[in-house]
Amino acid sequence: MKTPIKDFLEEYTSRRTTRLHMPGHKGLFGHPHDITEIDGADVLYSPSGIIKESETYAAELFGTARTVYSAEGSSLSIKAMLALTVTYARERGERPLILAARNAHKTFVNAAALLDFDVEWIWGDSLIHCPVNASVLEDAIKRLGRKPTALYVTSPDYLGNICDIRPLADVCHEHGILLLVDNAHGAYLRFLPEDIHPITLGADLSCDSAHKTLPAITGAGYLHVSKNAPSIFAERADEAMALFASTSPSYLILESLDAANAYLSDGFGEKLGLFKERLDGMKKRLEAAGFTLVGDEALKMTLLAKDCGYLGTELSSYLEKRGFVSEFSDPDFLTLMFSPEFGEEELSALENAFLSLQRKSPIKSEPPKPPRAVSAMRPRDAVLAPSLTVDVKESVGRVLASASVSCPPAVPILMSGEIITKEACECFEYYGTEKIRVVK
Ligand SMILES: Cc1ncc(COP(=O)(O)O)c(C=O)c1O
Repeated sequence: MKTPIKDFLEEYTSRRTTRLHMPGHKGLFGHPHDITEIDGADVLYSPSGIIKESETYAAELFGTARTVYSAEGSSLSIKAMLALTVTYARERGERPLILAARNAHKTFVNAAALLDFDVEWIWGDSLIHCPVNASVLEDAIKRLGRKPTALYVTSPDYLGNICDIRPLADVCHEHGILLLVDNAHGAYLRFLPEDIHPITLGADLSCDSAHKTLPAITGAGYLHVSKNAPSIFAERADEAMALFASTSPSYLILESLDAANAYLSDGFGEKLGLFKERLDGMKKRLEAAGFTLVGDEALKMTLLAKDCGYLGTELSSYLEKRGFVSEFSDPDFLTLMFSPEFGEEELSALENAFLSLQRKSPIKSEPPKPPRAVSAMRPRDAVLAPSLTVDVKESVGRVLASASVSCPPAVPILMSGEIITKEACECFEYYGTEKIRVVK
């Protein structure tokens, strides 16, 4: 697959021009490919040249009507996805309402404040994992007094749990509801032997962080629009991104997305399939040795740390001492993310590290259930209200202003505008948040 952005940057650099344009390092410091939108380099959210061509290749790879690049990760694509949904509702004379699984990333809450849409939650029993299936969705739709504009789910979640998207898409579309998927962790799902990318399975819009699971640099992401989605989404996708994006996108990130197209179209699927088998083999052996694993993802492995007598954070330190740096740990979980580029050596060294761990008796304590909060204010009013920072211990009865999160996984315990309860405080303390911002 051609790489027009990469080719342009290489050609431009080889010309050794005097750069009378931004950025100020002039190619003399930093990376020479770090340029701005000069002649020939196209314009990210009004593309007609090399960016347009490269995005067309990405759309072909992902099977979409339109794929737009993000140089600001899924955080930007999520806001754009929701802006498109709000526009769609308003065009139809409706007040936008999003039915969302409660394990949404904090960007969703920020978007609710910025775009002022209504939110109804589907609750789960855990902070990070909120399973939504067709019957949960049908019940939620019945419970609501009016039809939501869209269902919003996070799949895969940070632990590697994946929702069964096809039945969700079927229920949504039977009811005339859009399906939006935060697929930040799942760009690679498209290339598995069985393609389980949310767009393939019926989602209308998805955001993918290329940088999380593909060989792309931090900040690289996509907004994908399905071929079956209302045409307004493909038409206005660039505008929606531009609403929130920087006007100085990083060409290093764009080049990385461009180069990823070539990598993905050149045997990535086969490589991924083979690696999945190897990692599945290791997971099975670790389970046989008594480790408890959760999640469904091919490139992730999550351990229930307390089952082997440790906290997730302790297991993370144990691995770090042996040269393995994990993606995420909290008291309960340890999550590791893999690449099909890892060889036999890395995997067997990791397996040996686990097998040589001195197991202890399981720690019996459970994580607190996420509090079923009551909202006192719209997120927009709470986020923009006069506010002050207080100790979590002294916050019971107050209204949360900004959604404080530990990152990762950046899943808010409470949303902006919700009343802080004793249970919520216990949850904040469990996850290490000591201070929060409340409405004055
Ligand atoms: C589920 C989820 N959605 C969205 C994001 C934001 O993605 P990005 O870091 O690419 O902006 C993250 C980041 O970790 C995430 O875990």
